[in-house]
Amino acid sequence: MKPRLIVSRQIPPDVAVRVAEEFECPYPEGQDMDQDTVIRLLTETKADALMLTSHLKLDAATIARIPEHVRIAATFSVGFDHIDVAAAHARGLPVTNTPDVLTDCTADLTFMLILNACRRGHEYEAIMRKGWRRGYGMGEMMGTRVWGKTLGILGLGRIGQAVAQRARGFGMRVIYCNSKRLPPELEAGAEYFADFHAMLPHCDVLSLHAASNPATSDIMNAETFAMLPKGAVFVNVSRGGLVDEDALIAALTSGHLFAAGLDVFRREPDYDLRFAELENVFLTPHMGSATVESRNAMGYRALDNIQAVLAGRPPINPLWS
Ligand code: DGY
Repeated sequence: MKPRLIVSRQIPPDVAVRVAEEFECPYPEGQDMDQDTVIRLLTETKADALMLTSHLKLDAATIARIPEHVRIAATFSVGFDHIDVAAAHARGLPVTNTPDVLTDCTADLTFMLILNACRRGHEYEAIMRKGWRRGYGMGEMMGTRVWGKTLGILGLGRIGQAVAQRARGFGMRVIYCNSKRLPPELEAGAEYFADFHAMLPHCDVLSLHAASNPATSDIMNAETFAMLPKGAVFVNVSRGGLVDEDALIAALTSGHLFAAGLDVFRREPDYDLRFAELENVFLTPHMGSATVESRNAMGYRALDNIQAVLAGRPPINPLWS
């Protein structure tokens, strides 16, 4: 008999094929199930495993309601701030994520945001779609050059390093802040700042790649935005919780920031519509990993984690051990 799986959100067609081959999964096309629905379906189907995404908060109270027959909760994401890992550990429930396989696509999207913010991608595109019937003078609609500028990275982990690699190709100097300095082979020439505040005045572009946790909550606020040089560009593909959005909107409106590129927001999908009013913001709807290749690889990795645990093997990407 195949193991029983509940999937809490719609998944790519190729991943759904593998789910159908390997699992009894009554709701493979699950549409954003909420906590109560997930618990009910896990219970009714006597499920062995749960595959979820970052839309589903697995807080301590929800984890306590997961029936004992569920042997693993595998998130189809690298981020796991939606999971109370300590509560899962205390309950003995293995939880896993999907690192590595989305690194390059997320770094590509970061660079798409950097370039579009610096080069006014949103405004140029809007001009063309409105019919572009007036030529611009040589001093109009100018962006800011990327080559020769300094990119500051908060969090030089896997994705941060992949962004740094791309930045070097674009002729940028890379500086970074991490809790710990990386060895030279991972730094690849990036300059280390132990103090985030000390790094900010040097950033022509600042890109966030840190996890969302109490230490990084609102790390970008009125005080830290003011520490960036006037005309800086701000990019966030990590999590919205790192940013005080009122402070960001104020910095974009006052002209202290030249522009921003944003893929993540404090509230998703119902993000703050004041961003949509700002010409100097390039917006994407949390799509860092959204390529066929990365999303398939993430789904397969989540299934590999599930199959490992159900077969009595250790998970590939445990969030606790
Ligand atoms: C991730 O994998 O963490 C992405 O941000 C999607 O949630």
